[in-house]
Formats: sequence, structure tokens, C-alpha cells
Amino acid sequence: MTNIAVLASGRGSNFSAIIRAVKRGLIKANLLLLVCDNPKAGAIEKAKRSGIRIALVERKDFSSKIEFEKKIIQHLEECNIELIVMAGFMRLLSPDFVSRYKGRILNIHPALLPSFKGVEGIKDAFNCGVKVTGVTVHFVDEEMDHGPIILQKAVKIEGSDTLESLEEKIHKTEHLLYPQAIKLFIEGRLKIEERKVKVSNPGG
Ligand code: GRF
Repeated sequence: MTNIAVLASGRGSNFSAIIRAVKRGLIKANLLLLVCDNPKAGAIEKAKRSGIRIALVERKDFSSKIEFEKKIIQHLEECNIELIVMAGFMRLLSPDFVSRYKGRILNIHPALLPSFKGVEGIKDAFNCGVKVTGVTVHFVDEEMDHGPIILQKAVKIEGSDTLESLEEKIHKTEHLLYPQAIKLFIEGRLKIEERKVKVSNPGG
């Protein structure tokens, strides 16, 4: 079974959705490790409750980004991690890190990439007045919110929506989409061809 680590910096609601999907057997994998760079992150409590090992690695404790990432890599290697799932991890990984785990790092973004990149994806879409936004799960490459797209799901913005109600709809959608994308990965059904992800049928 695939060994998975989640990287998170905040609330951890996507992390929770992934924990649930593993417990229910939707994702047949070992969720072994949470890597977190923020001691106040809600994700830490969630990992504790589920008995998942926690690696708290704070950037301030390292003299350089290279040293910081070395520590993360050490934890990943100790657990023989094969898939890295970024779930609200608020740091851009270095090109060296990305190339070490090329094709084995996933990220979720709360908008339909390539639109509304950055940390305010939901708010930016709302303020822009688009009628449709959504959620993207993609492979991570060297650029922020870039990399081959695995799954996307649209979310309508109705006239009655507020930023808060839109956030709620986006997060609900994320919690469904991320486990599905992880499932496809661990079943070996994702293939990157010329920057595009081909999804094969079960068993095919
Ligand atoms: C999510 O909206 C995700 O798309 C973005 O960061 C947020 C993390 O939320 N990358 P949570 O910590 O999983 O609740």
C-alpha cells in the first residue's frame, strides 16, 4: 500500500477529509505522517486524534530554506513516503524538492486554475464577479498553483452567495474532490503526457 504524507499549515479540513476517506477504505493507503510548519495549526490536533505521526518543522528554526526542506525530507524518508499531499501548506517548495518527488506531489487549489492563483483564490473569484469558480487538484511543479491538472469541479456563484457561503461550498467540494484524486493516484490511474494528465479506467 502507498505511504502518504500530508503537508498542512492551517485548519486541516482537507486533511480530515483524507483521514475519513482512508478510514472508510475509499483510499487504500497508509496515511503515516503530517508535516506541519505551524504549531497553532488545527491539523495537528486532527493528527493526534487519529494517531498519525506529526513532524512539526518550523521555518524559523532553520538558517535557510534548503535546511528547512532537508528536515522535511528526513521525516518523509523515515516513513518511506511515496505520495506527498499538500493540503493548505503555505510554502512554495524549492525546485530541488519538487524534482526529488516529481510526479508524486499533489496540491489542491480553491479555484479553477489557471484562474485565481494565489492564497486568496476564493475571495478573488468572488470579488471578480465570475459566475462559476471551483476546485482544482493538480500535480505540483516548480511554479505556484501550476502543474498538470488532475481533477476540477465547478462551483456556481449565485446572486445570493456571500463570500462566506461561497467558501463553504468550495470547501465541501474540496473535501469530495481531493480523496477522489488521491484514490486515482494510488490506483495508478494517472499518467502525465505532455503536461496533461490522462486518467485511465479501473484496471485499465
Ligand atoms: C484550502 O482551501 C485549499 O484549497 C488551500 O488551502 C485551504 C486549506 O484549508 N490550498 P484546510 O486547512 O484544509 O481547511
